Amino acid sequence: MQVVGPIFEIRALRQKLSGTVGFVATMGYLHEGHLALVKRAGAENSAVIVSIYVNPTQFGPREDFGAYPRELDRDLGLLRGEGVDIVFVPSDDEMYPPEFSSWVDVEKVTERLEGASRPGHFRGVATVVAKLFNVVQPTRAYFGQKDAQQVVVIKRMVADLNMGIEIVVVPTLRESDGLAMSSRNTYLNPEERQAATILFKALALAQQLRRGGEKDAEKIRRQMTSLMQKEPLAYVDYVSIADADTLQELNSLDRPALASLAVRIGKTRLIDSMPLE
Ligand code: PAJ
Repeated sequence: MQVVGPIFEIRALRQKLSGTVGFVATMGYLHEGHLALVKRAGAENSAVIVSIYVNPTQFGPREDFGAYPRELDRDLGLLRGEGVDIVFVPSDDEMYPPEFSSWVDVEKVTERLEGASRPGHFRGVATVVAKLFNVVQPTRAYFGQKDAQQVVVIKRMVADLNMGIEIVVVPTLRESDGLAMSSRNTYLNPEERQAATILFKALALAQQLRRGGEKDAEKIRRQMTSLMQKEPLAYVDYVSIADADTLQELNSLDRPALASLAVRIGKTRLIDSMPLE
């Protein structure tokens, strides 16, 4: 496994690869959820490239960029175990030099949900992912269903800008009590960790109501909200039942829908989502 920082080096290594290249972009502090993407990329491609970069431009001024957990050596050990070919660890200096002034702004699908709660977040995500795609030039790129709006934004960007990269979506990996695996779970103390199970419980309730034939999206939102209000440590940021493609809120569940939510538990903001069949 080669670990490279400079962009000219990763370009040179990329040129030498033949066959398909699967790419997984991460911010490190890897867990089984990230590794599920890596495994899938390995199964479907001749070579796998993973990037580890805590992208400053997708964090708001009052967000956790400084506190975001970083443990590069441990991450590299995990990736070595998965048989990854190349790990790209870019530097801030090379990604965002002082004269940097070009941004990728995906409109419409970024207006609501995470886009509304975290202004500028998706501009940072789309820009860094476009840069990583340009450097790595993958055949396929793998993203987690957990960050459902991120998937919609990246797919939009790839289609709109004719990037010619296949986007593969991998189901959310969860702890045994349903909590979606996340690098941010490490912020939770034991009581908060217990309270955090409310996200999955609310999504499971939505799925159960849907399977029971409920078509009224507002009724589902209300029931999810009142369930979460029973958890004293949870502060609900948003609850959404939206069109799975456009992310517009639905009145009636007459098409593929996505249930998603953002909840603050103490100082930690967690998101989760579930496609509703
Ligand atoms: P990060 O949060 O490190 O996540 C990297 C990838 O792993 C994303 O595609 C995310 O959806 C996926 N992932 C995280 N937790 C998962 C889980 N429990 N199950 C399945 N997949 C999971 O998302 C980012 O980084 C950044 O925004 C990035 C795309 C790297 C751009 O900076």
